[in-house]
Amino acid sequence: MSPDAKAKAGLEDIVATSSRICFLDGDRGVLAYCGYDIHDLARHATFEETCFLLWHGRLPGRAELGDLQSQLAAARPLPESILRLMKMLPPSDGMDALRTLTSALGHYDPDAHDNSPAASYRKAVRLTGQIASLVATWGRMQQGGGPIAPDPAMGHAANFLYMLFGTRPNPTAVRAMDIALTLHADHELNASTFAARVAAATLTDIHSAIVAGIGTLKGPLHGGANAEVMKMLIEIGQDAPPERIDAYVKGKLARKEKIPGFGHRVYHTEDPRATHLRQMSTQLGQQAGNTRWFEMSERIEALVKGEKKLFPNVDFYSASTYYTMGIAIDLYTPIFAVSRISGWTAHVLEQLSNNRLIRPRAEYTGPAYPQTWMPVDQR
Ligand SMILES: CC(C)(COP(=O)(O)OP(=O)(O)OC[C@H]1O[C@@H](n2cnc3c(N)ncnc32)[C@H](O)[C@@H]1OP(=O)(O)O)[C@@H](O)C(=O)NCCC(=O)NCCS
Repeated sequence: MSPDAKAKAGLEDIVATSSRICFLDGDRGVLAYCGYDIHDLARHATFEETCFLLWHGRLPGRAELGDLQSQLAAARPLPESILRLMKMLPPSDGMDALRTLTSALGHYDPDAHDNSPAASYRKAVRLTGQIASLVATWGRMQQGGGPIAPDPAMGHAANFLYMLFGTRPNPTAVRAMDIALTLHADHELNASTFAARVAAATLTDIHSAIVAGIGTLKGPLHGGANAEVMKMLIEIGQDAPPERIDAYVKGKLARKEKIPGFGHRVYHTEDPRATHLRQMSTQLGQQAGNTRWFEMSERIEALVKGEKKLFPNVDFYSASTYYTMGIAIDLYTPIFAVSRISGWTAHVLEQLSNNRLIRPRAEYTGPAYPQTWMPVDQR
């Protein structure tokens, strides 16, 4: 494909909408939600504050934050029928399960037939609470455990870990999860958010738009990359000597294979989210007494930077971070969704507030027009 054709195929640098939610500067490595730099948010914000910011365009006051925390807590218990459906699903990919179960949640939503702005907002909050419960409960069941009832006194990150592991999480793990959720919450017109906005623009319901987002996030070129990173690290082997790591990476590059967790359509410098995840990966590794995954990741980063001038993206260090926290690989992309539901819903609400059907055109490259019709036995 020529560079021009490539750019066109990927809608590269095409501005497809205007939005007040996320500011991205790929050359300077800047990411900001509603004007707040991601580094400040990662240092200071909770995921709940981030959700409020994305949905309302400003940070909440104490009472508003308390209200949102109560609304999220109220949304967390899953309908009994959803738990039954979860048990009936065959062992499957976490994203497949999440897609089916999120779609099913639409049937039980008290606002299912109300697509007014107020009802869509209530559904956005509800989905954010429910998707965390879905992923935690699915993760537990995959390990042979039973569902854990949410604890309404816990924050979003803490409750997620509690429902996943069944034990009260330690403050470091809670903070790490809170930061990871904040970092993944929104990213402008990424593929899954675009898919959700396109669906919403037809005036379908919010559950359908979110299911479009989940299906799009699943792909290995998008959210699926974090799981691929960990599979790669394991394939190289925890005890691999440096030469083996080098040979693996160089071999993949020589075969023109992609290294998961590197490269980005928008960033031409370090993805600012990777800076925090790198730090978390090393800190959690030190705390767990095993920095091997982090060291291996660092070596791969240096190699890929040297050989291809590519920087790690959000998915690269989130893999070793989650692995060190004891989270199953199958849950990495679903955890991306636990966070991104906030950005998807913010964009869907924004789309609905000033909607027009999104319907681009294609450049026609098929057989010349007009072709002569031939009866079937003469073709
Ligand atoms: C993110 C991604 C899909 C962006 O894709 P894109 O903007 O279409 O960029 P391209 O795939 O056209 O890549 C441009 C060049 O960089 C190379 N490249 C991009 N990412 C690469 C990677 N992870 N490993 C090796 N080479 C890579 C491509 O092979 C291509 O090289 P070429 O010009 O010699 O053919 C791409 O970088 C990728 O596939 N990364 C791995 C998956 C991943 O981590 N996804 C999560 C994104 S947050």
